[in-house]
Amino acid sequence: EKANLALILDRYKGSITSLPKEKGWLTESLYMYQGHWFPSNNLISIGTVMASQEVFQANPTDIYLVTPPKSGTTWLKALAFAILNRKRYTNISTHPLLIFNPQDCLPYIENEILRNKPTYMDANSTRLFATHMPYTSLPQFILDSRCRLVYMCRNPKDVLVFMFHFVNKLRDKSLDRITLEEAFEMFSKGITPCGPYWDHVKGYHAASVKHPTQVLFLPYENMKMDTANNVRRLADFLGYPFTVEEEAKGAVQEIVSLCSFKNLTDANRHGNIREGLPKEAFFREGKVGDWSKHLTNEMSQILDGITKEKFNGLDISF
Ligand code: A3P
Repeated sequence: EKANLALILDRYKGSITSLPKEKGWLTESLYMYQGHWFPSNNLISIGTVMASQEVFQANPTDIYLVTPPKSGTTWLKALAFAILNRKRYTNISTHPLLIFNPQDCLPYIENEILRNKPTYMDANSTRLFATHMPYTSLPQFILDSRCRLVYMCRNPKDVLVFMFHFVNKLRDKSLDRITLEEAFEMFSKGITPCGPYWDHVKGYHAASVKHPTQVLFLPYENMKMDTANNVRRLADFLGYPFTVEEEAKGAVQEIVSLCSFKNLTDANRHGNIREGLPKEAFFREGKVGDWSKHLTNEMSQILDGITKEKFNGLDISF
């Protein structure tokens, strides 16, 4: 994959160097492209986004799980994977979600295009992909194919806190830790991978209003508040509704429990390394509003102000 990535980046190098550039959260740079910031050297990077736009081919039956980074990706991947594959994996104790990190149970579009052999060879089966791409940067093929997209986002304040912790875990020991003030500064200026965060949310919210049967807007907080009913909603939207028999057998609750924060955290506790991190790093608190333990009142007020201004007149709440 690394070799492929180098080739891809090379091809787009000329157009990348002329883009506005900022220092990223680790050692990477962030480039402004089509209104959003994309990292230089992550797998999900400016080069892979450009390449996806050019070469990624969608099937109309594809399903795309979209999140801004650190906004519930792992959970959404687990839930959708469990819903779609519930007839295939009936023995919960050997379910892939308890063996692999949910992140590894389905690919990102941005990674998929780097493989020589696609993960999915069978054009007739539903393909499940994840992506962090903003709506405006999605490969045109996906939009033209009218594929279904599920969008999970989250209160920006909780996202900032997770990013701050995650980046410090990833940071090379030889580098200083990033401070909360620095993280806040970058986040509030919109300088995050695929940010500005608020614009990412607005793009998909607008799409969900315009194309409600194609785009499901599903905030993390809603999923947290009433997981069972939102799992039903998700299954209906994905075209895999629960039957009366399944309901009677408690299939919804089974998926809720399988994908619960505790269950997945326990399953990943002794997992090996992913992106240079123990797999458990993808789980932290799993709570709504944990930001209040970390952010100052002033930070909170500034972020609330940005949210109010950006979402003015829109029906978006967390
Ligand atoms: P916290 O920082 O609040 O703990 P992503 O998966 O996009 O990186 O998002 C990370 C956030 O999702 C973290 O939030 C993480 O703990 C939470 N998360 C991961 N798995 C979850 C699950 N099964 N249920 C609820 N939250 C989960």
